[in-house]
Amino acid sequence: MHTKSGSRTPRSLCLANNPDRPLACCLIRPGLPLRRIEAAIPKGFWYRGRSDHMRTQFLLNGRQVTADTTPTTTLLDWLRDTRGLTGTKEGCNEGDCGACSVMVTDTSGARALNACILFMPQLDGKAVRTVEGIAAPDGTLHPVQQAMIEHHGSQCGFCTPGFITTMATAHLNGATDHDIQLAGNLCRCTGYAPIIRAAKEAAGAPVPAHMHDTPVPFAENTSGEPKAGAAPPTTPGELAKWLDGHANGTLVAGATDVGLWVTKEFRDLGPVAFLNRIPELAGVTVTPDVIHMGAATTLTELQTAIAPHHPAFADLIHRYGSVQVRNAATIGGNVANGSPIGDGSPALIALDATLHLRSVHGTRTLPVAEFFIAYGKQDRAPNEFIEAITIPRQDDALRCYKISKRFDQDISALCGCFWIDVKDGTVTEARLAFGGMAGTPVRAQHAEAVLQGRHWSEAQIRMAMTALADDFTPLSDMRASAAYRMEAAQNMLWRAWIEDSGAATNVRAVMP
Ligand SMILES: Cc1cc2nc3c(=O)[nH]c(=O)nc-3n(C[C@H](O)[C@H](O)[C@H](O)COP(=O)(O)OP(=O)(O)OC[C@H]3O[C@@H](n4cnc5c(N)ncnc54)[C@H](O)[C@@H]3O)c2cc1C
Ligand code: FES
Ligand code: FES
Repeated sequence: MHTKSGSRTPRSLCLANNPDRPLACCLIRPGLPLRRIEAAIPKGFWYRGRSDHMRTQFLLNGRQVTADTTPTTTLLDWLRDTRGLTGTKEGCNEGDCGACSVMVTDTSGARALNACILFMPQLDGKAVRTVEGIAAPDGTLHPVQQAMIEHHGSQCGFCTPGFITTMATAHLNGATDHDIQLAGNLCRCTGYAPIIRAAKEAAGAPVPAHMHDTPVPFAENTSGEPKAGAAPPTTPGELAKWLDGHANGTLVAGATDVGLWVTKEFRDLGPVAFLNRIPELAGVTVTPDVIHMGAATTLTELQTAIAPHHPAFADLIHRYGSVQVRNAATIGGNVANGSPIGDGSPALIALDATLHLRSVHGTRTLPVAEFFIAYGKQDRAPNEFIEAITIPRQDDALRCYKISKRFDQDISALCGCFWIDVKDGTVTEARLAFGGMAGTPVRAQHAEAVLQGRHWSEAQIRMAMTALADDFTPLSDMRASAAYRMEAAQNMLWRAWIEDSGAATNVRAVMP
């Protein structure tokens, strides 16, 4: 009966001999992921003695809880299957719809996250508030709940718990950019107008006292030793040691990629190490020479920190996933996954950023541009991890453009980030980085050569546009055809020229 966590059950199982859950067999049907069955069964029953369980301690709707789960049990499954908190819904189970949104508070504040791709150990030492914990303990509705009723913000109601938790988190944070805050919550029946009206009305109300959660101490974890497979290292040195002993182990940062390997592909990740307890990997520091970002800096943190220096990068991050995804995803994970359509890498390449890799043997650096060797292949040894990324301090000359089918919450068909430094009418530095044009994020060297050291003129940019055909032979796929990609890439260069000339552009206008 015992198969790997995350794999599917071959046929129905009967657990009627479970004295604590005599009806457990009724819950188990063919195809139900093992991790769900594990989550539903009382600790110590059939998985007694498993060495890869991790202990997680956090505040749940104001009460401290301790959970022993497999490392890849999602918060959504645990809430629904173990705690009976079924207000948190499963829609897509891949971070797209926001039906599973919860509020998570740690020492850096409260943020909305998608519980479906959040592994339990990521919550250690934090506070979680689900839709069941949004009304006050005496039953008084939260201002966003009251406003949703008054503005008829719910029809079928499936999306509503996710909206409520996201709205309540935004309300707590004083965020009034409601369109942005709610872009990660999909509603198919009510339509957004009543929901936005409700959010606007609630914005003026005071934050109820019970919404201010205080994170708890980390759990005393005994499963962190290498043999146990799952680890919550607390320093970069510990992580390096763990990785040296688990060359095929999986690092989990924000889990916005890794989470889907489990929820959609039912992969057994084997040994896993979580990066969320390593303070050195988090946050952005600006020195006179560099902007230093720890690999586990979230996209939300990066967006705020980078805005004063390179606003185009911050604007690009605004197009990245949704609030919930940006609150979880890390810049290190975005680069490490080697995706040819990841949005962070083209910007980092155009900014001439440096990657800092670490292992038990020490650290080494390389330009981000050189990290990507071929599709699915990066310059990273199995025992290395990304510790940080640095951007040299420089006067801003960055422009970033992303093409996707939707404005919000969509992966790029194409992303272009350009550093074109012009002094006295001459291009002194041209770094043109593209995602979606090849098997890796890559620089357009032919087009760069056409611009480098030349007069910055319409004729020259036209030649650079033509030269892109020497740089790339893009693919056709479900996001875009090869011809579309090439034309859009050329038009991005044209747009950079037009914007630099001071002309207004409006790429969101809907034309007949
Ligand atoms: C709904 C949704 C929308 C998305 N939208 C976008 C988008 O618009 N643009 C975009 O670019 N991406 C998007 N993504 C993809 C995803 O958010 C990113 O790739 C993300 O940055 C990965 O970071 P993470 O911290 O979640 O990584 P994880 O999922 O934790 O890890 C990803 C990979 O990187 C490895 N890894 C993580 N940290 C390190 C490290 N420090 N050193 C070495 N290896 C490491 C992991 O082992 C794993 O192989 C989206 C994902 C979802 C689910
Ligand atoms: S269930 Fe859709 S985002 Fe989690
Ligand atoms: S009310 Fe039905 S999906 Fe929003």
